[in-house]
Amino acid sequence: MGYKVPFVDPAKNYLLIKDELDAAYFEVMSKGDLIDRGHLRSFEENLAKFVGTKYAVGLNSGYDALHMSLRAAGIRLGDEVIVPAHTFVATCSAVVNVGATPVLVDVARDFNIDIGKIEEAITPRTKAIIPVHLNGHIADMPRLMPIAEKSGLAVIEDACQSLGSSVDGRRAGSWGLTGCWSFYPFKILGGYGDGGAITTDDPEVALFATRMRYNGEDRQSGEYHGHGFTCLLDNLQAAFLDVKLRHLPAWIIRRKQIAERYRQAFADLPDLAIPHYDDPRFDHVYQNYVVRAKQGDAFSNYLKDHGIEVLVQFRKPYYKHEALNLVDRGFPETEALSREVCSLPMNIEIDDEQVYHVIKTVRSFYGQKA
Ligand SMILES: Cc1ncc(COP(=O)(O)O)c(C=O)c1O
Repeated sequence: MGYKVPFVDPAKNYLLIKDELDAAYFEVMSKGDLIDRGHLRSFEENLAKFVGTKYAVGLNSGYDALHMSLRAAGIRLGDEVIVPAHTFVATCSAVVNVGATPVLVDVARDFNIDIGKIEEAITPRTKAIIPVHLNGHIADMPRLMPIAEKSGLAVIEDACQSLGSSVDGRRAGSWGLTGCWSFYPFKILGGYGDGGAITTDDPEVALFATRMRYNGEDRQSGEYHGHGFTCLLDNLQAAFLDVKLRHLPAWIIRRKQIAERYRQAFADLPDLAIPHYDDPRFDHVYQNYVVRAKQGDAFSNYLKDHGIEVLVQFRKPYYKHEALNLVDRGFPETEALSREVCSLPMNIEIDDEQVYHVIKTVRSFYGQKA
């Protein structure tokens, strides 16, 4: 079905910056610079600068960023790692795939880990915590960091959904041992296929990831420093991402404008919780605009029936998928939000008229005029 308001519109996005992307493509292709070349290094430098860390290392995906970070932190069989009960499953799978045990903690009203519930999940085996900055809103790092420090936990930030977000002026991905990034096409900074990175201030961690992404090899000396992986960010993707990174500050402003229009239009609807938390220390970049509608599927289906493409992430929490074999300790907030969540279109391709169509439709669901 062709939606009047698509959730994302990658072809339109391409047209907005076609000349720059085409120039990047022709440069890479005509030079034949495909693997570990200048565009990758340039993007890494610019990403590190943007996030506020000393280093960035381009990888193949956000999953790889989490995986490399856990390995760099020495997490292995027998260790426990705290992860939120509400996140994309990759956060948890990376923990399982290094042999460690994920210990899930419920989330709070902002969809991020409930800081007040972390300490009760810490045991003598807990070695790390992965706060996830979901939807473009950074977790409460000023409260989380002292808890992690007190218990000697490595902090690996899953910042895959929050490039540009900050708290107290310090950006997501610059608080922990590493920040993990995904450049999956529909992320706030999306490539044209899979992509990811870590950011870090730790030279050892940067070196580890740089070697391990290329099968453990030091590319200068040819020495293998361990059994590694193949998970390098392609030079061509890096060239595209470098172009898009230049536009990101302006694109974030546009996202905030749309979020503000939604806020003004929905603030009086008692059955709809909207993602505005009114704490000026936090800078929300609205990777996703996730509302909680008491009416659940009736709400999301109504929007779809009226030409609005929405996403529902997720009706079934990941820990309830039997094959994942995870311990459900009871997570009331995650359960409640799972029945209600609905992501409205939030992208820089939609125009004001399309935003108005969303507003009009949401209000009409609740029997209100726009
Ligand atoms: C919160 C979160 N963590 C991890 C990932 C994994 O990233 P990727 O799909 O690039 O592996 C994603 C995105 O898909 C994500 O949203």
